[in-house]
Amino acid sequence: MKTVREPKINLFKKSNPLPSRVLKNIQLTPNPGEGRRPKKEGQAIIHRIVLELDHSKYPYVVGQSAGIIPPGKDPEKVAKGAENTDYAVRLYSIASPTYGMGMKEDTLELIVKRDNTYDAEGNITHKGVASNYICDLKEGDIVNLTGPSGKNFLLPNFDFEGDIFFCATGTGIAPFYGMTYELLEHKLIQFTGNLYLIYGAAYSDELVLKEEFEELEKKYSNFHFIKAISREQKNPYDGGKMYVNHRVKELSDVIRQSFSKNARMYICGGPKGMEKAIIQELQKILGVTEDYEQFEKDLESKKQLFVETY
Ligand SMILES: Cc1cc2nc3c(=O)[nH]c(=O)nc-3n(C[C@H](O)[C@H](O)[C@H](O)COP(=O)(O)OP(=O)(O)OC[C@H]3O[C@@H](n4cnc5c(N)ncnc54)[C@H](O)[C@@H]3O)c2cc1C
Ligand SMILES: NC(=O)c1ccc[n+]([C@@H]2O[C@H](COP(=O)([O-])OP(=O)(O)OC[C@H]3O[C@@H](n4cnc5c(N)ncnc54)[C@H](OP(=O)(O)O)[C@@H]3O)[C@@H](O)[C@H]2O)c1
Repeated sequence: MKTVREPKINLFKKSNPLPSRVLKNIQLTPNPGEGRRPKKEGQAIIHRIVLELDHSKYPYVVGQSAGIIPPGKDPEKVAKGAENTDYAVRLYSIASPTYGMGMKEDTLELIVKRDNTYDAEGNITHKGVASNYICDLKEGDIVNLTGPSGKNFLLPNFDFEGDIFFCATGTGIAPFYGMTYELLEHKLIQFTGNLYLIYGAAYSDELVLKEEFEELEKKYSNFHFIKAISREQKNPYDGGKMYVNHRVKELSDVIRQSFSKNARMYICGGPKGMEKAIIQELQKILGVTEDYEQFEKDLESKKQLFVETY
C-alpha cells in the first residue's frame, strides 16, 4: 500500500538539472485544418509527453510542476549583451499521479500546448520557445528538468469525505488528469466524496483525454465529468459562450450543499484571471457578502480553494 508523499521542492535547479529521457510523445488534438477549429482562429495543438524518471531521485507529488530548460540561447538576452543568455525555465504541471500512471515510480507526464501567437487570418506570428521544443521532442531525446516546484496545489493528504470540484480551462486539465487517477484508482487516501471535473475548451476535439475521463465516469458513480465547450455551446444565462463558471452556476445547489461541509475547489489553466468569474460565482452561491479578495483569501486559508492560473 503506497502512502501520500510530502512534497519536496527544488531538488534540481538550472545549475544542476535532472536529465530525463522521452519515452513517448503523443499528439492529442487534430492536425491544423483537420479539426473543428476554423483556420482563422489559429491552432490548438496539445501533446502528451511521457518521460522516464526515477522517483527516488525526483519524488514529485501530483499537483506540483516540473521546470523545463529549453536548449540554446535566448536571442533577446544575446541582443542585450546579457552575461547569462540561457533561456528561462518554464513550468509545466505534472499530469501523472504521484507514483506514475502504472504506479511503478518510473515516469512523469506532461500535457503541453504549442503556445503560439496568430494573426487575424490564423497564421503563426510568434512561436513559444519551450512549448514548441517540448511538442517537437522525439522518443529517446533527453530533456533537462528542474523542480519539483509548488507545495500548495495539492490533494488532501488524509482520508477525505468531502466533495471535490476541479475546474480546468485548456491545459489546466494537466494536474487534474493525475489527480483524478490518484483519487479514484490509486486510492492513496480513502476518498468517499463526489468528484466533479468541469473542463473547458474552445472545441469538443480540443478536450484532451476525454475518452479516459468518460471511462472513469462509467466506472465510478461518484465521478462527474462536465464539459464547457465555449465555441460550440451557449450558456443559458446570457446566451453567450459556455464557460466553466457557467457550469459552476448550474451546479449551485450541489455546491451550496457541498460547501456547507468541507468541500474543496481547485482551479487551473489560463488565461490568468479566469479564476475570478468562478470564485465570484462561488461567492454568490454561498451568499457571502465580504469583498472578493477577502473571500478568496479565507477559502484558501481554510484549504477549500486552490488556484493555479497562468
Ligand atoms: C505553474 C504553471 C504551470 C503550467 N502548466 C502548464 C501545462 O501544464 N501545460 C502548458 O502547456 N503550459 C503550462 N504552463 C505555461 C508554460 O509555463 C509556458 O508559459 C508556456 O508553455 C509558454 O512558454 P513558451 O516558452 O512556449 O512561450 P514563450 O516563448 O515564453 O512565449 C510566450 C507567448 O508569447 C508569444 N510571444 C513571444 N514573443 C512575442 C512577440 N515578440 N510578440 C508577440 N507575441 C510573442 C509566444 O508566441 C507565446 O504565445 C504553466 C505555467 C505555470 C506558471
Ligand atoms: N497553454 C499554454 O501553453 C499557455 C501558457 C501560458 C499562457 N497561456 C495563456 O492562457 C490562455 C488560455 O490558453 P489555453 O490555450 O490553455 O486555453 P484555451 O484553449 O485558449 O482556452 C480554454 C477555454 O477557456 C475559455 N476561456 C477563455 N477565457 C475564459 C475566462 N475568462 N473564463 C472562463 N473560460 C475562459 C476559452 O474560451 P474562448 O477561447 O472560446 O473564449 C476556452 O474554451 C491564453 O491567453 C494563453 O495565451 C497559455
